[in-house]
Amino acid sequence: MARIFSSFALLALAFSLAIASDHSPLQDFCVADTNNQVVVNGMTCKNASLVQASDFYFSGLHNKGNTSNALGFRVTPVSVTQLPGLNTLGISLARIDYAPFGINPPHTHPRASEILTVVKGSLEVGFVTSNPENRHISKILKRGDVFVFPVNLVHYQRNVGKVNAIAIVGLSSQNPGVIPIGNVVFGSKPDISTDILAKAFQTSDDVISNLQVKF
Ligand SMILES: *[C@@H]1O[C@H](CO)[C@@H](O)[C@H](O)[C@H]1NC(C)=O
Ligand SMILES: *[C@@H]1O[C@H](CO)[C@@H](O)[C@H](O)[C@H]1NC(C)=O
Repeated sequence: MARIFSSFALLALAFSLAIASDHSPLQDFCVADTNNQVVVNGMTCKNASLVQASDFYFSGLHNKGNTSNALGFRVTPVSVTQLPGLNTLGISLARIDYAPFGINPPHTHPRASEILTVVKGSLEVGFVTSNPENRHISKILKRGDVFVFPVNLVHYQRNVGKVNAIAIVGLSSQNPGVIPIGNVVFGSKPDISTDILAKAFQTSDDVISNLQVKF
């Protein structure tokens, strides 16, 4: 009985590990072969004999991202697209620049938890838990502070200082993905019917149409 139970526990653990993040690599590395047209869950491996140091390398994170946009922020990702050596490793990085009072609007990462550290300025950050609580957990961070956004939860950041702010974030996927709430709800192609959104948000068609134009 105990043995059966522990097998079940192991099985449950295996499944929870499998869905919690990307799969563990089964070899030293699997540098993404960006020329291969074969579609798999992830990217196929480049011939290991042909792998170079440059496959594990990215340069440019010292460069400020252009925050001249309506929201005043810019993400410079370093995921498998920018750094092929990240393929299958379940990890990536990004730099986020914020203009004064700029925001990184509410969004989720379907495949990654995110750990953020402020390297310049100060940020208000927060995330919201799932139903039914929808608890909003937020904090003001200063330089050197670290905050974690659990996988899948809607989160945001705002620069609360009068100067530019910079954060570096680690993500538990080589391909974390991003779902910006405003874009997916009001900017889908084609649109979700205005009357569906009006009813969902309990507002008028006009308000929804305005939002759909903005996104
Ligand atoms: C990988 O590259 C090496 C060196 O060019 C070559 O000898 C080998 O056949 C290649 N392997 C595959 C599977 O293409
Ligand atoms: C920043 O982005 C704005 C808006 O897209 C553009 O007009 C401007 O030239 C960019 N600045 C730099 C330094 O690339």
